[in-house]
Amino acid sequence: MTAVLIKGARIYGEGDPVDVLVSDGVIAEIGSVEAPDAEVIDATGQVLLPGFVDLHTHLREPGREDTETIETGSAAAAIGGYTAVFAMANTDPVADNAVIVEHVWRRGREAGLVDVYPVGAVTVGLKGEKLAELGTMAKSAANVRMFSDDGHCVADPLIMRRALEYSTALGVVVAQHAEEPRLTVGAQANEGVQASRLGYAGWPASAEESIVARDCILAKHAGARLHICHVSTAGTVDVLRWAKDRHGPGLISAEVTPHHLLLTDDRLETYDPVNKVNPPLRTARDATRLRAALAEGVIDCVATDHAPHAVQDKDCEWAVARPGMLGLQTALSVVTETMVRTGLLDWRGVARVMSERPAEIAGLADQGRPVEAGEPANLVLVDPDAEWTVRGAELASVAENTPYEGMRLPGVVTLTLLRGRVTAREGKIG
Ligand code: DOR
Repeated sequence: MTAVLIKGARIYGEGDPVDVLVSDGVIAEIGSVEAPDAEVIDATGQVLLPGFVDLHTHLREPGREDTETIETGSAAAAIGGYTAVFAMANTDPVADNAVIVEHVWRRGREAGLVDVYPVGAVTVGLKGEKLAELGTMAKSAANVRMFSDDGHCVADPLIMRRALEYSTALGVVVAQHAEEPRLTVGAQANEGVQASRLGYAGWPASAEESIVARDCILAKHAGARLHICHVSTAGTVDVLRWAKDRHGPGLISAEVTPHHLLLTDDRLETYDPVNKVNPPLRTARDATRLRAALAEGVIDCVATDHAPHAVQDKDCEWAVARPGMLGLQTALSVVTETMVRTGLLDWRGVARVMSERPAEIAGLADQGRPVEAGEPANLVLVDPDAEWTVRGAELASVAENTPYEGMRLPGVVTLTLLRGRVTAREGKIG
């Protein structure tokens, strides 16, 4: 593998520009470096960060390769600056057994663009009725570290309790899609003024907040690690603050998506199902609180909930459209817009919420590491001043359902390195 010499980058956007030599998969040297045999990357004006880790990606393989494959999703991830992604279990068939999680893991290795970690289902078939064989999946070659029925809530408190208890013995994390299903029957959009005005059945904030509160209590009793997926309401921030204060650090963690940081239910005016997502886009007040909570650490990290869907499932009537939006290639830009340009986070903060905390939550030893000599060269180079215009058709995903179509966004990923190998540069693979 050719060595790579990144010239003149500012690590974490701090201090003077330095050269970073990457060889044999690690950061070999940082300083003023000459390396005649290395490929030289001019990184003037750019910020060097640890590669991003996404705890929440839908790669759709097996089953819906017409919308995304492990290879195309991995390409989108690498171009978006990611070096590791967690592939959710709501595939077809569901990843609720060792055969499927090993298949996903192997296909991820074959694609070789990011480390693909399969998430195992908590319950058989995501039906919420019977625990899946968590132990078999954890001990399989795929070494499953995270379990989730995402797309569905583990609504039965006894099943959730058992899952949390088993998870402690296995040393894994349960990630909850917090949605009390009895409160969201027929729901189409955030319950509130907008939904009432436009005639959508509402998805109340309390459906999320009540499950988060319940599960924090269950996790405390089980001494288990609980992760809350896609936090979307101001009230959930209050519950998390309470639970983290009460439980001490470490037991509870939470993620927010880029779309819940930037977009609001004002978008519903267009009736365009590209804006339909679960949990739904909330109010501007919620988005403001989510940003503040992420800056403060009450919400630990950003996760994309990258959810590709076929044209016929999005370009249709709102009520029958599937929820979800692409996110891997736009995450850094949305975080730049909402968190960096607003002064809420500096680049070290971005490294924390997009790389270090997600790696810690999932227990990854070789991701989210400091950008220092001797560390694994999982890195991303970002041009903080550049802007780009999002075009769904130009993204690496098979599906094109981006809510940012035509938007000009700041922050461009110019280079991604996975263990010292260039996986993406300037919006393209390799
Ligand atoms: O909007 C969503 N889409 N939310 C989820 O929880 C699932 C996801 C999907 O799989 O499409």
